[in-house]
Amino acid sequence: MSGAAYDDRDGWIWMDGAFRPWREAKVHVLTHALHYASSVFEGERAYDGVIFESRKHSERLAASAAALGFSLPIPVEQLCELKQEAMAKNGLHDAYIRPVAWRGSEMMGVSAQNNTIHLAIATWEWGAYYGDARTKGARLDIAQWRRPAPDTIPCKAKAAGLYMICTLSKHEAEAKGYSDAMMMDHRGYVAEATGANIFFVKGGVVHTPDPDCFLDGITRQTIVRLLRESDIEVVERHIEPQELETFEQCFLTGTAAEVTPVSEIGPYNFEIGTLTLDMLGKYDRLVRSRPNR
Ligand SMILES: Cc1ncc(COP(=O)(O)O)c(C=O)c1O
Repeated sequence: MSGAAYDDRDGWIWMDGAFRPWREAKVHVLTHALHYASSVFEGERAYDGVIFESRKHSERLAASAAALGFSLPIPVEQLCELKQEAMAKNGLHDAYIRPVAWRGSEMMGVSAQNNTIHLAIATWEWGAYYGDARTKGARLDIAQWRRPAPDTIPCKAKAAGLYMICTLSKHEAEAKGYSDAMMMDHRGYVAEATGANIFFVKGGVVHTPDPDCFLDGITRQTIVRLLRESDIEVVERHIEPQELETFEQCFLTGTAAEVTPVSEIGPYNFEIGTLTLDMLGKYDRLVRSRPNR
C-alpha cells in the first residue's frame, strides 16, 4: 500500500456513522474546514493490535474540538471502540490511526454556527516517521516560524490551523536536506519540532521545554514518567537557544516519531548516547506491553 496516494487505496474508512470503501470517503469542496481550518485530528499508533493510550487520544480529540467551539458527534467511549473496529476491518495490527473531526458545508463564511460536525477514522500501516534517523539520528534545521502565544490561538488543541507553520518549516528544512525543523516559541525559547516534542541531556539530567504554548504530547508525558521512574532528573523549563551548544544528547518524542535521537540542530551536534538509546528501548517495550495499555 505504501506509495499509493492516500485517496486511492483499498480498505475501509469509518465516516459519519458507517464504514465506507476507502476511495468513497470524500468531502465536498465547500467544506468549512477546508477554507477556515475548522478541523481537529489525532495521530495514534497501535502495536500488536492495541492502540497505545487510546483513551487519552480520544479525550484529547474531544478537548481539541471543545477548544474550537464544537462537540464530537459521538462519545469518547464509542470513539475508542470504533478506532479498534476500523483497524480490525482493515486487517491491521501495527497501524497508524487518524481520527479527524470537522465543520461541514451548511454555512460558507467565517461563521459556521449551523454547520454539521463530521467525524472520520482512517487507519493504515506506517513505518518509522523519520526513517533511518532512529539509528543514525535526525538532522534538524532551525525554523524561522515560531510557535504562537497562547492568547493568539488555542495552542493546546491538535487543530489543523496550528500545522500551517509546521508544514512551512518542514518544507524549508527538507529543501536544505534536513529531516525536520526545530521551532522556537513566540518569546524565542526552544519549543518543539514540527510534529514532535524535544528533550536534551546534559550531565545525566534531562531538560525539556515547558509545554506552555504547544502540545504536551502523550509520548512526552510517557517519557517524563519513564525517566522519573528510572530515577533520572527531568527539568521542565524555558530553554534559551544559546544553550543548545551545551547539551550532549537530544531526542524527539511523538506518536509518529516514537523516540528518535537527534544528531544535529543547525550548527550544533549531539551524540546518540546511552540515555537516549535506553529511553528508545524502554518506550518500544512499553508500547507493546499489555499491562501498560
Ligand atoms: C506539533 C506536535 N507536537 C508534539 C506532538 C507529539 O504529541 P504526541 O506524543 O501526543 O503524539 C505532535 C504529534 O501529535 C505534534 O504534532
